[in-house]
Amino acid sequence: MKLWGGRFTRELNQLAHNFNASISFDQKFYKQDIRGSIAHVTMLAKQGILTGDEKEKIIDGLQGILNDIENGTLQITTEHEDIHSFVETHLIARIGETGKKLHTGRSRNDQVALDMKLYTRDEIQETSDLLKELMSVLHRIMSENTETYMPGFTHMQKAQPVTLAHHLGAYFEMFRRDRSRLHDIYTRMNYCPLGAGALAGTTYPLDREYSASLLEFEGPTRNSMDSVSDRDYLIELLSALSTIMMHLSRFCEEIITWNSNEYRFVEIDDSYSTGSSIMPQKKNPDIAELIRGKTGRVYGALISLLTTMKGIPLAYNKDMQEDKELTFDAIDTTKGCIALFTGMIDTITFHKTVMENSAKNGFTNATDAADYLVNHGVAFRDAHGIIGQLVLLCIEKNISLDELPLEEYKKISPVFEEDIYEAISMQTCVKQRNITGAPGQEAMKQVIAANEEYLKHS
Ligand code: ARG
Repeated sequence: MKLWGGRFTRELNQLAHNFNASISFDQKFYKQDIRGSIAHVTMLAKQGILTGDEKEKIIDGLQGILNDIENGTLQITTEHEDIHSFVETHLIARIGETGKKLHTGRSRNDQVALDMKLYTRDEIQETSDLLKELMSVLHRIMSENTETYMPGFTHMQKAQPVTLAHHLGAYFEMFRRDRSRLHDIYTRMNYCPLGAGALAGTTYPLDREYSASLLEFEGPTRNSMDSVSDRDYLIELLSALSTIMMHLSRFCEEIITWNSNEYRFVEIDDSYSTGSSIMPQKKNPDIAELIRGKTGRVYGALISLLTTMKGIPLAYNKDMQEDKELTFDAIDTTKGCIALFTGMIDTITFHKTVMENSAKNGFTNATDAADYLVNHGVAFRDAHGIIGQLVLLCIEKNISLDELPLEEYKKISPVFEEDIYEAISMQTCVKQRNITGAPGQEAMKQVIAANEEYLKHS
């Protein structure tokens, strides 16, 4: 059944119907649509717009439709224009004339705005929970690896030694910000559009505050035209999802590098690797690559919706129907990627000795060697020059600073003594970096304890 046949004399062209219809994708929020209708009818009865009996009948019917969809006896079929028409048509078929009163004081414009907000709210919560699971896994690995040394890089060149705990701690921070962004979006969008009607509210004495409270919103939206045409929260969500994907993608890029034959810092578990159809020796990091690849698709959704919205005059226009497929796809993609990444990082093996040796063999202690001179009264710029010369010497001899004999040190500067070796050991280099945010074990333990609290209380 069409919800709008009255003023038409000819049937809609079949291709036009197909083009216009949204049921193939908006059926995703059948639950939210029914929940919204139950709240609307409850409010209508409280206001005396429907009788108590009518309300009971309609709610029973809606509940029946929901149960039948859930247990598979009612299929959502595509001859209907959208999920709203589907539910209303089935309601009237079930309970008769009373069903026709459901849509009193409502338009599909405020209805769809509500459904999308209800759906988005649930998905924001789920995405945030998935991120928390990922952070719990990172937290476990961090707690176990405050003494696992590895090179820290800048420009992909070994820079200074850090620990695995410290490196993973950087991602912990990113995901923490991601969750906080999701939380902000939730708070900002949590106002109920129901009662905005098509664009100009309605003449019925609706209690919008009551509908909002039934649906656990902070309150009703404040402008009916904005209510039906606001998609800012979806743009914000797509931006937050894009940022999550960007973080996952950077992490994947590192895992792929670390998993390469050249690095061997990690080995991705068999359960998250794939083989080659031709090369028997291969074990490929396809899952990490695919997560990196899917990032583009979520960015695409953001740009797509921004572009769709940019030319739309107030208030509702059908262009806005385009918000759904791309938002659903971006949400499902991001949630899937977070879950897969969590499994992959939870089962990965870190080759700690390889990481430590790599940190040792890259002059990552050169800054500390310069600091040693500074602590003995040499100006930093001179110290920098002296250590530069020593590094060059070590490169010629193919040894590390730790392996260079003391007499060679002394030849370049008499300031060096036997304690230079202690001062530039990797353990010392990390341990000395104990200010807030640095990789030193004491500083790291405080961060890990704070992260523990965060995971308990957020
Ligand atoms: N399927 C529509 C959408 O997603 C529902 C709102 C339809 N409203 C209308 N006036 N045609 O935006």
